[in-house]
Amino acid sequence: MRKNIVAGNWKMNLTLSEAQALVTEITSLVAAEAAGSTVEVVVCPPFPLLSAVGQQLPQGGMLHLGAQNCHQKESGAYTGEVSARLLASVGCEYVILGHSERRQYFREDDEQLSQKLKAALAAGLKPIFCVGESLETREADDTFDYIGRQLKDGLFHLSNEEFAQVVVAYEPIWAIGTGKTATSQQAQEVHAFIREQIARAYSAEAALNTTILYGGSANAQNARELFGQTDVDGGLIGGASLKARDFTEIIKSF
Ligand code: 13P
Repeated sequence: MRKNIVAGNWKMNLTLSEAQALVTEITSLVAAEAAGSTVEVVVCPPFPLLSAVGQQLPQGGMLHLGAQNCHQKESGAYTGEVSARLLASVGCEYVILGHSERRQYFREDDEQLSQKLKAALAAGLKPIFCVGESLETREADDTFDYIGRQLKDGLFHLSNEEFAQVVVAYEPIWAIGTGKTATSQQAQEVHAFIREQIARAYSAEAALNTTILYGGSANAQNARELFGQTDVDGGLIGGASLKARDFTEIIKSF
């Protein structure tokens, strides 16, 4: 059966000392939850902080390490880039791929994302693959077609075995960092649609087993209602993951 996951995407925030202070606080706040909790928590710091943060996470606990991106090649002359294999070597278990900020500001397209997915899986990482529509797309009533295309062109080329490692995140662009969250009903209907597409592309069993996260202005106040939806299995949290108390409250919303 699928897991519940709360992942914190720190984006390009926090220095080393700030990150260490945050992880210390999160670790102590979730300590009481850790025993018996079924929620998996993933923190996704910027590249230079991965190793230090990874070493700080208690072994075998509910906290896991993820990266925010990786390059599609295994190694080589790609100045400034970071491969999936490198990420795995510093303790990453997850990698966020296809975030709308990467698609928009760094022009990552379905072809490149397909290669990144393959590279991540080959290195043993679990991809958190993001999809989501712009406000313009939503207002044009094109949300389902758009997300269906993102899934088909970016993700559904994977084999059954590969797909079993993937977490999907629905992040409506208009809700990211805007304080304007999707209503629980809007989130649920897109999540149900994504699950239906997975069932068609793979199988009903694969659909039931896939964790689908919601992202976009999720916070301690709205998490309980969002996570209460049948097809919402957790969250991909930006701003609120930078504050230990807020992030922990979100984790405790299950
Ligand atoms: P916010 O939670 O800050 O809206 O960001 C969501 C996000 O982009 C997570 O990947």
